[in-house]
Amino acid sequence: MDYERERRMAEAHAKNALAESDWRMAGYHLFNASRMTLRMAATAEGRTKTSLIRLAERYKARGEQALGKTATRQGTPKVAGEGPAAAEGDKDTWAIAERPNTRLADVAGMNEMKDIIETHILMPMRHADVYAQYGIQPGSGVLMYGPPGTGKTFVARAIAGEVDAAFLPVEMKRVLSKWFGETEQLLGELFDAARSNARSVIFFDEAEALFPKRSSTNSSVMARVVPQLLQLINGLDPTKNCTILLGATNRPWLMDEAATRPGRFGRLVYVGPPDIEARAYMLEHAMRDTPCDGLDFPALAQRADGYSGADIAGERDSLCIEAKLAALKRTVRKVENANGGDVEPDPVTMADFDAAFARVPPSIKEQDLAQFTRFREEHSRI
Ligand SMILES: Nc1ncnc2c1ncn2[C@@H]1O[C@H](COP(=O)(O)OP(=O)(O)OP(=O)(O)O)[C@@H](O)[C@H]1O
Ligand SMILES: [Mg+2]
Repeated sequence: MDYERERRMAEAHAKNALAESDWRMAGYHLFNASRMTLRMAATAEGRTKTSLIRLAERYKARGEQALGKTATRQGTPKVAGEGPAAAEGDKDTWAIAERPNTRLADVAGMNEMKDIIETHILMPMRHADVYAQYGIQPGSGVLMYGPPGTGKTFVARAIAGEVDAAFLPVEMKRVLSKWFGETEQLLGELFDAARSNARSVIFFDEAEALFPKRSSTNSSVMARVVPQLLQLINGLDPTKNCTILLGATNRPWLMDEAATRPGRFGRLVYVGPPDIEARAYMLEHAMRDTPCDGLDFPALAQRADGYSGADIAGERDSLCIEAKLAALKRTVRKVENANGGDVEPDPVTMADFDAAFARVPPSIKEQDLAQFTRFREEHSRI
């Protein structure tokens, strides 16, 4: 029997049952998952064995939880003769906030987004009293949507960096796939972390999972998590902490229009592929501390039509990284041949970019863009 397959199936059934609030079935499937995992553990060895035993314990504890028993993680009885009872490392925590050192000047293009940031985030921070004179409430959230790699996460970090705020990223899909009770706990911890910082940016990535269309997937997200989230947002005291709420999605069509109701994400902003100016800025910015020789940035920007920000200047596998690596390899060869003598780093040339263009294709597809255009036309209201 394929225990791993059985385990996965039991877990999937349990998730469905939890989503339907059918605790009894959830308990049944969780105990099943625990049994299958223990069978796998019986033939495993070393660390794999230990982690399988821990997993089985977690399933069992969750099964008990689902059946309304009082099992807690610490109190989980051992289900086998070895392995620690409490599953350390199981608990996610949001308390560790990042302090990004990216700034808005690092972000190319995105003029609409930058305008909103200026009017609704930066200016109110500098001139709270003037905003009060006009009776304008600063804040409310901004939800960005657009194809992958266009810099949505990047700009969210840059906003935090710009105002020296703690950056608290939340991958919604990961949070929502948590077991019953854990999602609530994680969100509570997230807002505690926001409250313990004078300024923070909470960034909801994959925001489509948070506000799914009612007809699709499990409506329990809307029923359970959204009200809690709204309550947490309302509970923030703007006189004590400044908390900026940002969200991002590259599948906005999966979202319910309720996402942009007042008090939720107040603004929806499209973040598209960079225009020629943004591409030139990105290229120049990415190469600013690198030895270069004769790079024609306007020509490169022209050539990079259709490339996303990530394709051009991303940290991995981008045009700029590929071009730099080519020059770097030449330099390494020189260093190896120089036997300890001084070596000038070899500059990046247009030929290096020629090779990079040959290796890196644009990742955004025409049909993806067409989908966004359609969505924007249909939703020009939001
Ligand atoms: N507008 C931009 N200005 C400068 N760099 C950019 C820009 N857009 C993308 N990049 C570069 O590409 C990388 C990847 O972008 P990012 O992860 O922010 O894209 P994303 O829109 O969040 O994508 P996804 O929708 O897949 O999450 C960034 O870390 C950055 O290096
Ligand atoms: Mg992202």
